[in-house]
Amino acid sequence: MTDRVLVCGGAGYIGSTVCNELLKSGRQVIVVDNFCNGHREAIPAGCEVVTGDIRDTACLDAVLERYKPQACLDFAAFIEVGKSMEDPGSFFDNNSFGTLNLLRALVRHGVDKFVFSSTAAVYGQPDLVPISEDASLKPTNAYGESKLLVERMLEWFGRIHGLRSARLRYFNAAGNTPERGEDHVPESHLIPIMMQVALGQRPQAYIFGTDYDTADGTCVRDYVHILDLASAHILALEALEKRESLVYNLGNGHGFSVREIIESMRRVTGRPVPVAEGPRRDGDPAILVASSERIKTELGWKPKYADIDSIVASAWEWRSRHPNGYGS
Ligand SMILES: NC(=O)c1ccc[n+]([C@@H]2O[C@H](COP(=O)([O-])OP(=O)(O)OC[C@H]3O[C@@H](n4cnc5c(N)ncnc54)[C@H](O)[C@@H]3O)[C@@H](O)[C@H]2O)c1
Repeated sequence: MTDRVLVCGGAGYIGSTVCNELLKSGRQVIVVDNFCNGHREAIPAGCEVVTGDIRDTACLDAVLERYKPQACLDFAAFIEVGKSMEDPGSFFDNNSFGTLNLLRALVRHGVDKFVFSSTAAVYGQPDLVPISEDASLKPTNAYGESKLLVERMLEWFGRIHGLRSARLRYFNAAGNTPERGEDHVPESHLIPIMMQVALGQRPQAYIFGTDYDTADGTCVRDYVHILDLASAHILALEALEKRESLVYNLGNGHGFSVREIIESMRRVTGRPVPVAEGPRRDGDPAILVASSERIKTELGWKPKYADIDSIVASAWEWRSRHPNGYGS
C-alpha cells in the first residue's frame, strides 16, 4: 500500500473530502495548499498541513525532502471557467505551469505515482453522448486547455521519467458529507447557488437557455458525488502500483437538466426556489454526460449516489447547518 500521500489543494471542496477518505484508509496525508480558495477548517484533523504554493520550487523540495511521500494527488487549480476566459494567463500559470513545477519536483525526489484532477472540460463540445475517454479533446475554454496541457505533459513524464499517472476527468462534482461542504467564492456551481436561493441569500437563480435540444429545453449535466470521486481516487492510487497510465471519466452516467435540479432542490428543501429564465451562455453544450464504464470495468468502481435527490439532500444537510459556508 502507498502509505504516505502528498495532497496538493487538500483544503478545497473535493481535496478535503478525499483527504478524509485517505486518512480513513490508514494513510498518512500531507496537505500543501496556498489557501487562495480553500478553507483551513475543511482539512481533516490528522493531516500534516503546509501552507505553500505548487509554483514555489523551494517549498515543494522542502516538503518532499521532509515527508518523503510515495504518491501525490493534485487538486490545486483555479476552477472558474468564466474567469479563464477573462484572464487565461493566470490559468496557464497556476494550473499548467504550477503542475509542471510539481511534476518536476516529484521526479527529483523519486515520487513515481501521481493522481491528477482533470475535467470534462477537456472534451469541449462532444460529438457523441455519453462521452467516452476516447472522444476527441477540443476544449472550448482556457480552463479545459490548462488541464489538457497537464494531461499531455503526463504522457511525456511517464514515457521519459517513469512517472505513473491517473488522469481523472470529473464531470460535475456535487454533494457534501456531514463534516465538510462546497464553499467556493465566488460560487458558480448550480447546486450551491440554488441552495443560496433556498436560504434567501439570493433572490433567484438563472436558467441560461430554455431552447436546447433536450427533453425540457434546459442543459443536461452529470452530477457525481464527492464520496464517489473519493473512492475512485483511492482505487486509482492502488491501481498505480501495477499500472503505468490510467485515464478515466468520473460521472454517474445519468444526466439531469437544470429544471430537474431545481425541482429536486424544491423537494429536498421544501422551500421555494424562484428562477428567472435568460438566453443561452456562449459555449455551453446542451448535454454533458459521462460514460464511466472504463473505470467500472477495469477497477471495479461502484458509485453509490445515482439518484439526484440523495446528492442534493447531502449538499443541503451541510449547507443548511452552515448557511454562510465555512464562515458560519
Ligand atoms: N468542482 C468541480 O465540479 C470540478 C469538476 C472537474 C474538475 N475539478 C477539478 O478538481 C480540483 C478541485 O476542485 P475543487 O472544486 O475542490 O476546487 P477548490 O477551489 O475548492 O480547491 C482547489 C484548492 O487548491 C488550492 N490551490 C489553488 N491553487 C494553488 C496553488 N498554486 N498552490 C497550492 N494550492 C492551490 C486552493 O486554495 C483550494 O484549496 C481542481 O483541480 C478542479 O479543476 C473540479
